[in-house]
Amino acid sequence: MLETFKTVGKPIAHDSAAKQVAGEALYIDDIRAPEGTLHAYCVLSRKAHARIVSIDLAAARAYPGVGAAISAADIPGKNEVGPIYKGEPFLAQGIVEYIGQPVVAIAASSIKIARAAAKLVRIVYEDLPPVLTIEEALAKEFYLAKPYQMKIGDAAAALAAAPHRLKGTFANGAQDHFYLEGQIALAVPQEGGEMAIWSSTQHPTEVQKMVAGALDLPANAVTCELRRMGGGFGGKETQPAIIACIAAVLAYTAKRPVKYRVDRDDDFMMTGKRHDFLVRYEVGYDDDGRLLALDISFAARGGHVADLTTSIVDRALFHTTNCYFVPHVTATGYACKTHTQSNTAFRGFGGPQGMLAAEHVVDRVARRLGKDPLALRQLNFFGQAPRDVTHYGQRVEDFVADKIVAELAADVGYAERRRAIDAFNASSPVLKKGLALTPVMFGVSFTAIQFNQAGALVHVYTDGSIALNHAGTEMGQGLHTKICQIVADEFAVPLETVRIAATNTGKVPNTSATAASAGSDLNGKAAQAAARTIKARIAQYLAGAAGLPESEVLFAGGQVQVGATSLPFKDAVQKAYNARIQLSATGFYRTPKIHFDRATAKGRPYYYFAYGAAYVEATIDTLTGEYAFDRAELLHDAGRSLNPAIDLGQVEGGFVQGMGWLTTEEIWFDASGRLRTHAPSTYKIPIARDLPRQFRARLWAAGENREESIHRSKAVGEPPLMLGNAAFFALQDAVAAAVPGREALLVAPATPERVLMTIAAAAP
Ligand code: MTE
Ligand code: HPA
Ligand code: MOS
Repeated sequence: MLETFKTVGKPIAHDSAAKQVAGEALYIDDIRAPEGTLHAYCVLSRKAHARIVSIDLAAARAYPGVGAAISAADIPGKNEVGPIYKGEPFLAQGIVEYIGQPVVAIAASSIKIARAAAKLVRIVYEDLPPVLTIEEALAKEFYLAKPYQMKIGDAAAALAAAPHRLKGTFANGAQDHFYLEGQIALAVPQEGGEMAIWSSTQHPTEVQKMVAGALDLPANAVTCELRRMGGGFGGKETQPAIIACIAAVLAYTAKRPVKYRVDRDDDFMMTGKRHDFLVRYEVGYDDDGRLLALDISFAARGGHVADLTTSIVDRALFHTTNCYFVPHVTATGYACKTHTQSNTAFRGFGGPQGMLAAEHVVDRVARRLGKDPLALRQLNFFGQAPRDVTHYGQRVEDFVADKIVAELAADVGYAERRRAIDAFNASSPVLKKGLALTPVMFGVSFTAIQFNQAGALVHVYTDGSIALNHAGTEMGQGLHTKICQIVADEFAVPLETVRIAATNTGKVPNTSATAASAGSDLNGKAAQAAARTIKARIAQYLAGAAGLPESEVLFAGGQVQVGATSLPFKDAVQKAYNARIQLSATGFYRTPKIHFDRATAKGRPYYYFAYGAAYVEATIDTLTGEYAFDRAELLHDAGRSLNPAIDLGQVEGGFVQGMGWLTTEEIWFDASGRLRTHAPSTYKIPIARDLPRQFRARLWAAGENREESIHRSKAVGEPPLMLGNAAFFALQDAVAAAVPGREALLVAPATPERVLMTIAAAAP
């Protein structure tokens, strides 16, 4: 029997894992910079909102070792990094609009010299009144774009007719991406004014495009490359363009290579985060707790420019009923302008905010009715027609949350755990326990339909080795490993035969951001298509030469079988080469079936949905607000997983990142609009100690994709973040137990202080 070399579906180690452990994985800062490379540093605005009266760069420019000192006036092309809307500068233009905005950039022979020169820059401001909060922006109707609405049925009439109604507000906090590798770019001038950029970006094409604009060059004069990021989490979808444009304009001005590696504190101050939201709602329901109508509005803190805010608010609106069927929904989104960092994509892209609000509503209704929240969740699940349609008109054809939830509930012994925890609480006056089991339903596809495309480039060399490029970027999520598995399986060769090259805009053009969890769906199919093209050419040639039909040629076990004979893959390749068969091909993929009309807010924006569920138990100390998670059990649907080891990593990591967002991570501004949580000293991401004491994640064994996704897998990058909701609602459950008979509603993040204050406010 031939060895199959099949790796798709196997728990193959991440291709960077060993290199990362050994410190051999190369990041942008590890690239040996060319001789004479200058280092960049930026002067950031200390005002939330002010007119720039004057900028004096003379002393900085004269400082020994400085190669360039620039402000917006020195940009040869466009001062523009807006991904959707225009008018988003990378250097402050005439006004500053947040504390932390880059105003002046300096490149010098060392970072120390650049910092010293920065101190010599004189900027005169004239203060303007800032808008700092969502509430203030709402009151002033200070928006980045027109409010947007999705609607089904008649929520107002259904609310009026509902047996019960509840009105309320809810909020979630922001979240910093805290990628371990900060923002960084290296710009190296080439001949003829061309510019080569190495950027830690999820979106090399965007960097290419914005740098070309900044330098007034056509796109074909700029290339952007990266091998990997040390984490992106959405924070490197658009904002690396700011860093790259600054590096590029400095390099252009100094006529020298420039590296801009942003300090952690500056990164915090300059770049946007997950949007904090203010949610207002009214829900109508019957005696059983069946949801009848929902009128809900989401107001996001957008920051000083739009960036991706409107698309993120859209995704919150799409996810505002999570797994639940609600016949009458009006959901309205407000992209608020504030004089703060421009908030941006972050794992889930508005989905988490929409879904968390849905869970808050369901949880609150359950408590009002004295029912177990899980029972209420199950009662409201999408089901058979007519209970299968979302408020944006997409039919839910692949619903499995009910099955996953039932399996997890049985597995953890939900009913017994409920009784045990009730018994504990009855006899424990200070410590209180809580539990929650929450579902996730996440739409997979970019909702801006044009982004759902990808390309790939495959070369087969005459020694039988294979080089692979695709449109996606590696940020730790294992995309490169998965695509290598897919291509190796197509050629039926060992995984080591396939080597992936750095992502490069010169090799695969016009790429979408690696985002929306669609990386392996899109690039996997594109790479598979390229491999199949080359295979077909080889097969056609070998079949012809042997006088056999093409169906007699089979790639298996590192061999190519032609009828009754078999030859090693590399010999087949050599033969094909000798016969002048092209051994290089591009591949392309576009997601089928999807469409969305933003004008009517109806369509089928998602190719399919990804599902999961999480069960969490928590203990709180009602005297201090401190808490710990005693147990977390995750069950997630990755379809037919391409790589269960990597996918489990995504499930665990996503959960912990979601838990951090909803618990200890707090973004806090002072009254002047200055971000005061801008370093690990004040901004608390979860560490090992914060993990649930008993922690288990599993992929759902019955996972399957009813759509023809790559090998029937499901996207797994973002959805598990929302499993973290269970941590929040376990705390909510414990808080409720601390003040029986009273309503004590948590908002996120449920920091220990907030747990304490919520109990105190509700206590008799
Ligand atoms: N996992 C790691 N380790 N690092 C990351 O930066 N980003 C997440 C997710 N998982 C991220 C990650 C986000 S925001 C997205 S959209 C997806 O990975 C992107 O990759 P994919 O489409 O290949 O899943
Ligand atoms: N998800 C993530 N990133 C995006 C999206 C999306 O739906 N649209 C544009 N960028
Ligand atoms: Mo992920 S937020 O779509 O980069």
